[in-house]
Order: sequence, then C-alpha cells, then structure tokens
Amino acid sequence: MRTMLTIGLILGLTGGVRAQPRDVNYDESKVPAYVLPDPLVMVDGRAVTPAEMWRSERRPEILRLFETRVYGRAPARPSQTHFEVISGPETALSGRAIRTEVDVYLLGEAAGPKMTLLIYLPANATGPVPAFLALNFFGNQSIHPDPRITMSTAWMRPVSANGIRNNRATEASRGVQASRWPVETIISRGYALVTIYCGDIDPDYDDGFQNGIHPHFYRDGQTRPAADEWGTIAAWAWGLSRALDYLELDDRIDHGRVAVMGHSRLGKTALWAAATDERFALAISNNSGCGGAALSRRRYGETVKHINDAMPHWFCGNFKLYNDRESALPVDQHMLIALIAPRPVYIASAEKDRWADPKGEFLAARHAGPVYRLLGERGVGVEQMPEVGKPVGEMVRYHVRAGEHDVTTFDWRAYLQFADRHLKGG
Ligand code: GCU
Repeated sequence: MRTMLTIGLILGLTGGVRAQPRDVNYDESKVPAYVLPDPLVMVDGRAVTPAEMWRSERRPEILRLFETRVYGRAPARPSQTHFEVISGPETALSGRAIRTEVDVYLLGEAAGPKMTLLIYLPANATGPVPAFLALNFFGNQSIHPDPRITMSTAWMRPVSANGIRNNRATEASRGVQASRWPVETIISRGYALVTIYCGDIDPDYDDGFQNGIHPHFYRDGQTRPAADEWGTIAAWAWGLSRALDYLELDDRIDHGRVAVMGHSRLGKTALWAAATDERFALAISNNSGCGGAALSRRRYGETVKHINDAMPHWFCGNFKLYNDRESALPVDQHMLIALIAPRPVYIASAEKDRWADPKGEFLAARHAGPVYRLLGERGVGVEQMPEVGKPVGEMVRYHVRAGEHDVTTFDWRAYLQFADRHLKGG
C-alpha cells in the first residue's frame, strides 16, 4: 500500500509507462557531501603506483568488490562453444548487407539454453571487420523492419505500443526500435552489427531466478544465487562474453575489435561486460544511470534504494545492503569505468534524462581519469561538464546531448567517430 501511494507514473521511453518514486531528488543543492573511494588507493591504504600495481593488485581488488557487492559473481567461461547457424548468410538490406542468424548455446553444449545472434555484415567487406555488439530490449526483429529477421518467441515485457501481446512479440513489433539501430549507417561505415535479445539470457523480471540462465548453475540444493552471486545484469554481461566466444570463431569479424554497447539497463550491462571481459576493445554506455555510469553517492535521480526496490533481480543480494547507505560502498561507479582502462570508453548522457543523473555520469567519467593517466592515456580532459552537444575526451569520451532518455542519431554519429578513431586508427 505504502509503495502504491509513493509511486508516480511517467511515460517511459521504451514506449511503456514507468514508475518513478516521488522521493526523488532533482535539486543539485540537495546532493549530499560525499567522498569518493580513491581508485589508486588499496583497501588497506597502500598507494597504487606504479602502473603494474594497478594491474596486479588494485584492478583485481576493485573487480572483486564490484563482483561481490554490486553485480554478483558469474560462472567461468564454458570449456567449449557450441553454435548453430539458423539462417543465412544471405544478402539483405537491398544488397548492402549480409545477414546471418546464429544460435549460441550458453552452456557450450548442444542442449540447454541458447541465445540468437542477429549479425549484419557490410556486403562489400574484403576481410574481417570490427563490430558493435549490443543487447536489445524487444527481440532481434524489433531493431529493423527487415522481414526475414526471425521473430523472437521468448518472454517479453508487455509493452503493447511495441507490439508485445501476452508477453510475446507479434508481427507488429518488427522494426519498432529501428530509430535506435541505424543498421545501414553502421554497415556503410565498415562495421558489423551483432545483436541479441537480452531475455534470451535472462528474462527481465523478478521471478526469484527460476527461469533464465541462473538455475543451470545451481549447486545441489541451491534455489537462488547466493548474496554475492550474479543478478540479471551480470547474467546479461556474461551472455555478451559468450557472444564474443562465438565471434572469435567467425572469421568474418575481427574479434579483437569488438565494441560492446548498450542503452539504459543494457548500458549498465555493457560497462560491466567490458569490466569483466578484457577482450572487449571498446565500451559504450548510453544513458546508463544508476548502477551504470552515474555516481551512486550523489543520490540525484535514481538511487541505489530506488533501483533495488524496483528491480530486485538486477544486482546481487549484497547490493541491497547499500540502500540509503551509499557512503558505505567500497566502490563507486567511476571505478567501474576505471576497470575498462586503458581501453576506450564512451559515456553518454541526455540533458532531460535527469533520472539517470547526467552530471553524475560526467563526474564518474572524469574521476576514472587518474587510472587512465597512470596507464599512459588521457581521460575526459576537462574539469566541468561540457556544453550540451559537445563531446569531450580522448580515451574516456563523454557527451550530454539535448533531449530525452533514448538512443539517437547524434549518439550513433559520435560512437561511430569514436570507433573509427580507436578501432580503425582513423
Ligand atoms: C528504469 C530504471 C533505470 C534503467 C531504465 C531502463 O528507468 O530505473 O535504472 O536504466 O529503466 O533500462 O530503461
């Protein structure tokens, strides 16, 4: 009852209605004073120099803290990879692309759970191409009207405006998210696009971890992940790594140049995937907010308590210990970005997306800087948030664009430029 009274409803940009608590702070003067943990000081107080100590001691320490306190520990890579090409390769998009669909079996064997990769390659590629790998919210068929994309049959959030009925995608869902996926532009720039429905790995609702990938890893008698074991975001990130295992075997793609990208909850996931799997060459967080790029200690917009209350399955059990106790966290999200160092990372905000705290995202990007510098790279390079629409930074790049929580042409133009620079040496 109490929750009912304190919940207001606003229109969510995935096309549905999203609940937003009324106790949310959007007043900069009410951001509490806070001290961020220093990424270059060990928990036991030792200073982290030289760079080698980052690699051998502090990075593993921070990774372990995020694993056990925030996202949860995921299982190791399966010892083998099993996949089946289910369609293609065939010409698509008026001859400009080659489309292939591949089922990747998540346990590495020809049984059990699988996820379907939709792959578009530039038709004119003469050798292995770099790729963007990104999870989607409403099935592969939602990213483009291409009628030959296999329709997802998996459980989906019931957003009727997106053509989802009775928790299943219908024909009306084809291409509903196309504005966020400029496939033709991506391939014309010489990249492959690889996408997977996140619910193939774990459906996005709190069912006590009975469906999705988690139960396949329960020990005898175990019925849900332990408090330091993986939640749904860690499972999605683990799935992205399994996609990369497959890409390593597909010689049309240069697996050393794969950028992992995601929006919102899937942006949180992209950052965690890049943090846990150093094979990802570049990471892009689009409007990822709380539990993604935004500093938790600012308590601006969505807080740790808001997110844990609304989405108890996203993070590990231990993360709930920090509801309204952000200052007790041994990490903050600048350290998540630092785990990606020295690889290129792009943090993008939207001006009106206050729920995701654009300034908190900028500050996390900025405070990852000392780690990039220690490793010989340049971070965002500015002290203050840049003007709207003006990207800044070198290895850590940041922009806040005009508009709402979404993925837009402006964002993709910036990401392609960033990828050209770092994955193609342009
Ligand atoms: C909710 C949630 C956010 C998340 C967003 C999304 O708004 O509170 O943390 O980023 O959904 O994924 O669309």
